[in-house]
Amino acid sequence: MSTDNTESTESKCGASTDETTTDADATAETSSKCGASSSDSSSSSSCGASSDEEEVGATVDDFEADPGRLVAVGLGPGQPEGMTAKARSALLEAEHIVGYTTYVELLPDEVTEGAEDIYNTPMCGEVSRTEEAIDRALAGNDVAIIGSGDPNVYALAGLALEIIESKGATASMLDFDVVPGVPAAQSCAARVGAPLVNDTVSISLSDHLTDMPTIESRLHATAKEGFTISIYNPWSRKRRENYQKCCEILLEHRDPETPVGVVHAAGREDEQVEIVELGELPELGETDLVDMTTTLLVGNEDTYVWDDRMVTPRGYETKYDY
Ligand SMILES: C[S@@+](CC[C@H](N)C(=O)[O-])C[C@H]1O[C@@H](n2cnc3c(N)ncnc32)[C@H](O)[C@@H]1O
Repeated sequence: MSTDNTESTESKCGASTDETTTDADATAETSSKCGASSSDSSSSSSCGASSDEEEVGATVDDFEADPGRLVAVGLGPGQPEGMTAKARSALLEAEHIVGYTTYVELLPDEVTEGAEDIYNTPMCGEVSRTEEAIDRALAGNDVAIIGSGDPNVYALAGLALEIIESKGATASMLDFDVVPGVPAAQSCAARVGAPLVNDTVSISLSDHLTDMPTIESRLHATAKEGFTISIYNPWSRKRRENYQKCCEILLEHRDPETPVGVVHAAGREDEQVEIVELGELPELGETDLVDMTTTLLVGNEDTYVWDDRMVTPRGYETKYDY
């Protein structure tokens, strides 16, 4: 196995060799291991910083080999025991693994040791990383693109299909498959009892791809309607205001005593779990508990705390005596 990072340059996938230069995160230059024959194939993903237009580089016609396979694999919350057996076998079968550095570091040793090549890039660069995975598959390799939780939850499964289409390739040609993983909302819910057993809406506070007015309006609608809410991407240094705005909106519609599960790094070594009241949420924004690896689980009007667990009644109590 070799691990590529943003400093390596050697081609690994056997396509024709002009390089596809990508700018994964404003600080690092990444050389594609799978450059096809397109010469003006730069793309940039800057995670919210000012950016050039994202451009897909090589098209399907630039690859001569019979295509390999591409699978999007959800790792679950982090620890190897949290991964499904299907995800583990998909990773063991892959020749190349592509992912964000943090997720690559979460892989079990048997997976990293068995892979022919691992391509990891720092945070951001989702478009260039996904394109890299696709190019490697088009060049004939069996590739797994990995992410935490599930590939369908604020993750790269959809982007992979969009880029495959824009290259003039097809999902069938790459035998594209999605292997689900346990999403953060569910891993985190399990740590605080049973907060999400009724109708729940997920909202991400990241305004990288959705603008803040839209996020605010979704928060208002969801909080007003009485859903339980799982809040992803609650905080980052660059968007402290989004977190504070979210707290304000929730407090506009919900009782300050509403229970909120705050779960940081579920299933990882630095896991922290607390059940707080909604009124306490704003002051947690500047603590270690709330950061980019935290998910918030906001109860509905029926949610209560019993024996250190959140309980959201499903409604059985209205039909049955117990
Ligand atoms: C880009 S989203 C990816 C979600 C992922 N695909 C899933 O299904 O959980 C990243 C957000 O997921 C949440 N998250 C991911 N892993 C987590 C964990 N181990 N514990 C708590 N929250 C986590 C955090 O809210 C983080 O900001």
